[in-house]
Amino acid sequence: MNEYDSARLAAFLEFNGALPAADIEKADAILVNTCSVREKAEENAIARIKNLKEFKTKNRKLKIGVLGCMAKNRGESLFKIIPFLDFVLAPDEYSRLPEILLGSMAKEKSEDEPFAKLSNNYSAFVAIQSGCNMRCSYCIVPYVRGMEQYREPNSILREIEATAVKGVSEVTLLGQTVNGYRYKGLSFAGLLKQVADIKGIERIRFMSPHPKHYTGELLEILLGEPKIAPHVHLPVQSGSNSILKKMKRQYTRENYLSIVEALRSSNSLYGITTDIICGYPGESEEEFEETLSLLREARFDSAFMFAYSPREGTPSALEKEFLNEEQKKERLQRTIDLQNTIILERAKLMIGQREKILLESTSRRNSSEWIGKTGNFKKAIVKAQPSFKEGMYVDCVIEGIKGHTLVAVPSITPSQL
Ligand code: 5AD
Ligand code: SF4
Repeated sequence: MNEYDSARLAAFLEFNGALPAADIEKADAILVNTCSVREKAEENAIARIKNLKEFKTKNRKLKIGVLGCMAKNRGESLFKIIPFLDFVLAPDEYSRLPEILLGSMAKEKSEDEPFAKLSNNYSAFVAIQSGCNMRCSYCIVPYVRGMEQYREPNSILREIEATAVKGVSEVTLLGQTVNGYRYKGLSFAGLLKQVADIKGIERIRFMSPHPKHYTGELLEILLGEPKIAPHVHLPVQSGSNSILKKMKRQYTRENYLSIVEALRSSNSLYGITTDIICGYPGESEEEFEETLSLLREARFDSAFMFAYSPREGTPSALEKEFLNEEQKKERLQRTIDLQNTIILERAKLMIGQREKILLESTSRRNSSEWIGKTGNFKKAIVKAQPSFKEGMYVDCVIEGIKGHTLVAVPSITPSQL
């Protein structure tokens, strides 16, 4: 989401007459987009910004600005810890950016919204929703991003069409609870159908859906529309019903597992990845073990796993922390260890499968290899062939695994024999 926001801001600035600097030393302005979701994310951002001081010393006219969630969360207080900052601008204030950077040189407001510039030629992110109406007890996002707002479908479809014309074939729709999208009677499932009708779009992904918004209509299109990739990143957070309740997640372990079952019923290789929080305040050993047992039942293809981080201003930050950092880390490590064995088992199931792999780039380690992704979002290595280009789909057979990565071999069609 942040990468997409940065690309959108860059397009907005270019539209207003600013150009990307060839290198950081030549920049007139440095903007840092930030995340607040965990304490560590803010700490990292602050350390990175402090490191920019040398450029300010070399170029007195340089403007340094902090954008994104931390700008909203910490606001003016950032000037106290980073005195050389020029401005702090929260997401709801971005329209002021051209004026701050370019003064009277900034263009007048226009009806046309500039679309995000792509970082590659085959895959694009497109935001369809901003903000979040959920109030998960631990999460800072609703406070820094505000209420849900849904983008007008025509604007979404025009953006995707424009990228498809340029050769993009994979699109990822973005939103905090992306499947809660609705616009004047158009549901998320309805929007997916329209995206699937766009010529040139071959693979549709979306991130991140919320378990609460899995309707029958949605499951039907997910399983019935071949352009929708067989993978979902579906954050579960915990396997314990009592913790899910405290987290205000609005579903039970059973609800969640029924979605997993529905998705894997016709395709046992359907990719499901998740987010897990370990050591929520008051989480007992038994409750934690329910998360481990959920991991065993759901068999996630991959997971982002975090130690609980109290965020000031969220309800859970007011609860007494029953677990210390050490205990949270220990639970996190046990979760990671278990999930690592499951990742491997899931990867092994892919051996012998035929897969269409979207080529992304040559491997940084070995230029005779390409890196790509299967439909179910697994990373694969493919031995390079002269005809390979980024954005190409190659029919392969999975012949093995290296670490957690699949090793794929292009299948030779009869005409090539
Ligand atoms: N502590 C730890 N992890 C968190 N996340 C969100 N808030 C917190 C927090 N306070 C995780 C959730 C979410 C992901 C984006 O970040 O797992 O899905
Ligand atoms: Fe945060 Fe919950 Fe909204 Fe996700 S759904 S952004 S975890 S409040």
